[in-house]
Amino acid sequence: MQVELEGVTLEVEDHGEGVPVVLLHGFPLSSEMWTPIRTAVEQAARLITPDLRGFGASEKPHSAYGMETFADDVLRLADRLELERFVLGGHSMGGYVALRLAAAHGERLAGLILVDTRASADTPDGKVRRAIAIERIRRGEAAAFLDEFVPNLLGQSSHTRAPKLATALRDLAAGVPDHVLAGCLAGMRDRPDSTEVLAKLNVPALVLVGQEDTIAPPEVAHTMAAALPRARLALIPLAGHTPSVERPIPTAEAILTFLRESFPPPPLSIKPRPA
Ligand code: MLT
Repeated sequence: MQVELEGVTLEVEDHGEGVPVVLLHGFPLSSEMWTPIRTAVEQAARLITPDLRGFGASEKPHSAYGMETFADDVLRLADRLELERFVLGGHSMGGYVALRLAAAHGERLAGLILVDTRASADTPDGKVRRAIAIERIRRGEAAAFLDEFVPNLLGQSSHTRAPKLATALRDLAAGVPDHVLAGCLAGMRDRPDSTEVLAKLNVPALVLVGQEDTIAPPEVAHTMAAALPRARLALIPLAGHTPSVERPIPTAEAILTFLRESFPPPPLSIKPRPA
């Protein structure tokens, strides 16, 4: 469904019953990345997956694409859906957004799911790499940038086992306009460090990471899980940076187990048949 917010219209999938779970996709993908685990997670939750502004079927305005801009969109979406408190999750760039929302409005979070992401800001070298990429995109070399960038979203095992996955992700990325690519790269480069936010988030948290992730590797996930007061860590074997598409079954299992244990459904009331 399309949800019109002030200034931007977002495409949002909203299905299932139970604790509301809002999952944010990473760069340069869309909510499509959750499709392989959608049906499973909807067994335990009301799953809400927006296409962030600029991506998928959402509006792609010539606006800022900072992490705070996305966080503001997500907060307004939650208000529109009347979600007082919700579990917020994000993959990679979606995780940067989730942590900015948590920094400003931690009281709205009932739980947190961080997928192949990091709380720290870009390193000085990382900022330089972003600037070079932005320059390439401005010169009209977005396709070449994506050809190099997208394969890193998958682990080596996935490249060997399922080479078509790289093509599918590259096709998804092809729909992202240049101004959105450049805007997000600038937004990620300029994002503040969110490390201090973690210790303040006293809610159930799941930190999930593909064992072969080279963008946000398992040691980063270990550090975040240690800093969060109530976190558990799930390592997904034979997956890289995008476990929901690389290993959907163990990824869905980890999320389902977390949701069922942290937000148990009310017991079924079975009434005896009147005699
Ligand atoms: C992502 O997967 O969202 C991006 O790779 C994150 C990043 O480039 O820092």
